[in-house]
Amino acid sequence: MGIGATAGVAAVGGAALSAQASGNPSSSSASLRFDPDAYTKLTTTITDTQGAEHKVTYHFWKAITYVADPVDETYQSLNVSVPVEIDGTAVDATDAPILFANSVGGYLPSSVADATGIGASGAPTGGGTGGGASPAPSASASASAPGANGNTNGTGGALNTNQLLALLAGYVVVEPGARGRTLTNSDGEYYGTAPAVIVDLKAAVRYVRSNKGRIPGDTDRIVSAGTSAGGAVSALLGASGDSPIYDKYLKELGAADASDALFAVGAWCPITDLEHADGAYEWNWGTNALSSGKQVDQTVSKDLKAQFAEYQAGLKLRGLDGFGPLTARNYDEYLVKQYLEPSATKYLAGLSDSDRETYLAKNTFITWSGGRAAFAWDDFLTHVGARKKDTPAFDAFDLSAGENNEFGAGTTEARHFTAYGAKNDSTGLGTKRVAADIPGKLNLMNPMYHLVEKVNERRSKHWWIRLGTSDSDTSHVISANLAARLDNLGDDVNHLYYWDQGHGANTDPGDFITWIATVTGYDKDRTAKRN
Ligand code: DHB
Repeated sequence: MGIGATAGVAAVGGAALSAQASGNPSSSSASLRFDPDAYTKLTTTITDTQGAEHKVTYHFWKAITYVADPVDETYQSLNVSVPVEIDGTAVDATDAPILFANSVGGYLPSSVADATGIGASGAPTGGGTGGGASPAPSASASASAPGANGNTNGTGGALNTNQLLALLAGYVVVEPGARGRTLTNSDGEYYGTAPAVIVDLKAAVRYVRSNKGRIPGDTDRIVSAGTSAGGAVSALLGASGDSPIYDKYLKELGAADASDALFAVGAWCPITDLEHADGAYEWNWGTNALSSGKQVDQTVSKDLKAQFAEYQAGLKLRGLDGFGPLTARNYDEYLVKQYLEPSATKYLAGLSDSDRETYLAKNTFITWSGGRAAFAWDDFLTHVGARKKDTPAFDAFDLSAGENNEFGAGTTEARHFTAYGAKNDSTGLGTKRVAADIPGKLNLMNPMYHLVEKVNERRSKHWWIRLGTSDSDTSHVISANLAARLDNLGDDVNHLYYWDQGHGANTDPGDFITWIATVTGYDKDRTAKRN
């Protein structure tokens, strides 16, 4: 099913099709004009990373449809927040970086249409925003408590924190919704499966870019952020900037005619490179038991692990900091030296002497010497414990994984997207092969395609990537490969693993906000203006 086949489904989710005639360029461009005056003024309290509270007044534009010919406006709309006063001092965000924070989780639909203020996407409504001087979001927005935000669905704490801290830093925050894998129309057709999420987010970027000069903020300094599936699409947005392979889909939606290239990317625990993720998962977690105590099928696990070795060899990546070629044979050593030991070292160095002693007494696999942690890969795996997913982790033989649904099409809810998954299908599917459109869909969804097979020169050149060391939603090599490829291409990569943190963690949000100022040069600009 092409996206075009989904026309007429706008009633799903309670949205109504916008009235303009599709294909009428003047009405389309008019409908995609940002109205600088159509905001509500809101005030909220934001707690910074040190625990101090700040009063922030901001202008809030709600549920702006970002394409001229929407399929479902509930999802194809975005919110904009622009700070105007912080702790009683006026701020001017005219030239500020723009944080483009998606709230995609699980490749599910994400909507900001009912949000009552910044960072409240999908939340139950509290203080309304209807007209004039609306009340602030009822709950005091808290961006504090680094380490306490292990959200599990990719839509909660981590991103919310980024958004609030960005507003507090004086940045513009754009929060786009996007279609997701479970949406069906009245004919039972899936209209939010791949590549809908990335097409929608690109269209939203184009909307922002095309409104340069009307929308506050520097449209050449858009920084994407997302967690998990949202981290995957954030990385994909950055890698695929202005790629022509999305053109026909964008055209069908009446997307604004503008660049969708991004300046920088923040990606937390990106669930990406899906067609290679099953092999990478078994390479990483193959011998870890499930939480039930059960081992996964070791024949399947070994098959997939062998596929990973071949894939990894073909990538021809070199590890960061002069590590040399990265292979299935040395990747354990690479992860330990490059990421895991430094992560544990930072964690342990931050503890009081007595807390560190207690931790080390409980975790005797760690040697602490000269202010550095050292340990073996196998002991690290034992320390993490149960693997989250059965095998194959992503292209399940019984089509039960969320990713099978993500590659559904037409009235088919879930499909295989790897040769191995299709061959071993347990649902009685006849073909035993992936459908003809799958390879193209995989390219549309994979940042590695734009970095390896086609090296996209319009990609973001600044990358912030984070992952919890205890996160077994995917393999640790997925983000390490992404980082290594970007580094090998010469990009600026800031990649750290958070010690003992699980899926969705964001324990250094303040550093991300500072990093945005540094890479965009906004610090300098602001200082220059003040002086
Ligand atoms: C997410 C988590 C997963 O384990 C997965 O396979 C896809 C998405 C998420 O949290 O977004």
